[in-house]
Parts: sequence; C-alpha cells; structure tokens
Amino acid sequence: MKISNKQKNTDSEIFGIIGDPVSHSLSPAMHNKAFKKLKISASYLLFHVKPQQLKTFFKEAKSKQIRGFNVTVPHKEKCIPFLRTLSPEARHIGAVNTVLLKNGEWHGHNTDGRGYLKSLETEMRIQLKNKHIVLLGAGGAARAVLYVVAQKKPRHISVINRTLDKAVELTEEFSKKFPHTHFEALPFEPEAFALAFPDAHLLINTTSLGLKGTRLQLPLSKLPPYTIVSDLVYRPLKTALLKKAEKLKLKTHTGIGMLLYQGALAFELWTHRKAPIPEMKKALLDAL
Ligand code: ATR
Repeated sequence: MKISNKQKNTDSEIFGIIGDPVSHSLSPAMHNKAFKKLKISASYLLFHVKPQQLKTFFKEAKSKQIRGFNVTVPHKEKCIPFLRTLSPEARHIGAVNTVLLKNGEWHGHNTDGRGYLKSLETEMRIQLKNKHIVLLGAGGAARAVLYVVAQKKPRHISVINRTLDKAVELTEEFSKKFPHTHFEALPFEPEAFALAFPDAHLLINTTSLGLKGTRLQLPLSKLPPYTIVSDLVYRPLKTALLKKAEKLKLKTHTGIGMLLYQGALAFELWTHRKAPIPEMKKALLDAL
C-alpha cells in the first residue's frame, strides 16, 4: 500500500476507505459528491490495505494529509489497537467503520448501526418498541444492527444463525446489556423459521447471502402481512429475498439506505457539516 503523490492534491484534505478488497466500494462516489456540493476542498480515495500493511498505513497516514477514513473488511476489528479512543458504539459493537484524526491521534467510531436505524426509520417509519425482530446472522453486521435496534426496547429479538453457538453467545451478551428485551438464539433451520416468523414485525437479513447460496428456502409466507423484510445486502439492490417478499406483498427495505446513512454520519464526524443526503443518495444509485 502506497499513498501516491498522484492521488494527492496539496491543498486539500484526504479521506478514504481502507479494505482488502476495496475496489468495489461505492463510498468514493458518495463522499466526493458531498465534498463538491458543499465546496469542501477534500478528496475521498480508495486505499487497498492488506492485513500485514495495516500498521504501516496508520503510521504513514498522519503525515499524508489523511484526516479520516472508513474501515471495511477485514480491518474493522483489527484496527482497534491503533486507535487512541473508541466511541461507546464502537466499543459495544466491537468494530470500527470510521476513523477520525483529532489532536494528532486516531479515534474510532462505528456509524453502521446508527446508519441502519436512520434508514429504517426514515424509509419505513416503523417504531420498534414492543415489537418482535427476527435477525438472520450473528456476525459483525448483526452486532452493529442489534446494538441499535435493542436500544429501541423491542419486546423480543430472535437471532437465527447457521452456527448456533455464535447466536447463543451474542444473545447472552446482549440480554445482559438490554434486560428489557427477551433474546433467543435459534439455528438456521426450518423449525426455527416456523417458530419465529409467524410473530415477526421485522425480519432483517444480516448475512451476506441475500438468499442466494442458502440451501434452505426461507418460508416468508409464514410472516404476518405487516412484516417488513429488510436486507443489508445492497448489490443487487433488490435481492432474491426482497423480490420474494414483494411477491407476497410484504413491505421491503433495501440495504442502500444503511450505506448512505453510515456514510452521512461519518461525513458529519469528519467535516462538522450536515451531509447533503439527496446528492449522496443519487451518487450511490448512479454508481450501483
Ligand atoms: P459480516 O461482518 O458481514 O456480518 P461475518 O461476521 O463473516 O460477516 O458474518 C457472516 C454471517 O453470515 C454469519 O452469521 C454467517 O453464519 P455463520 O456464523 O454460521 O458462519 C452467515 N452466513 C454466511 N454464509 C451463510 C450460509 N451459506 N448460510 C447461512 N448463513 C450464512
């Protein structure tokens, strides 16, 4: 990983995203459009950083006009030792997606969860209090989503995961943090879907599947007619899961809003300016 002179414009600040791989990221389109709209002299670049280059990246970045960056797979947890502080969200989620340089030190935040919630509330106008949420997956994305949805005091959260132990660990940890909600861990099996689906208000897919690659058919017809089906996968925008839900006339929520709002929250942390949401959204949709 080298931060080349070609990428730099000496007058402007640099932001970007580190990941491996990173070339598929839609974040440059969204952030560069926002900088342009607000006439901020800054650029958002892609930094392909391999795991063994992470330490060097943190060392070099300060002297290269980099003021902040997003973090994606596989560095969301591995970057924590290089940070001076973690926001409470990043600490509870155990992962960082946004890094900010302040007083010469790196500080870690996580805007993924709040970005998801903002998207869900803005687009679907759902109140989560006293509702039953069914979450598919128990990985990093599930943790971020769980941390924000649990704060809304749902009645019940079922975490369904292929590796049951991971769902058990996650629900045990979150039951302690959020005692007002009943958490249950279930295996990714037909019996679990049959148990959880008939009472669900919101079904969230946090696995990277978008339904493709699952050997199991999710019995969406068991969901009540008012259930919102939400998929964190945004490529394609309408995943197989969402298409199937639409056919059953269920309300659907795509993953693009989470990408948009996590980016908007990061932008606001870096610039202290209100993120231009419509322009960022258009840039994302054009880039998809
Ligand atoms: P992320 O940070 O995107 O959440 P992750 O931490 O690797 O990525 O988690 C991926 C999630 O997708 C996990 O819950 C994983 O289930 P396991 O814990 O059993 O690995 C789930 N997942 C991945 N492939 C899957 C498949 N083919 N069927 C069901 N679940 C799958």
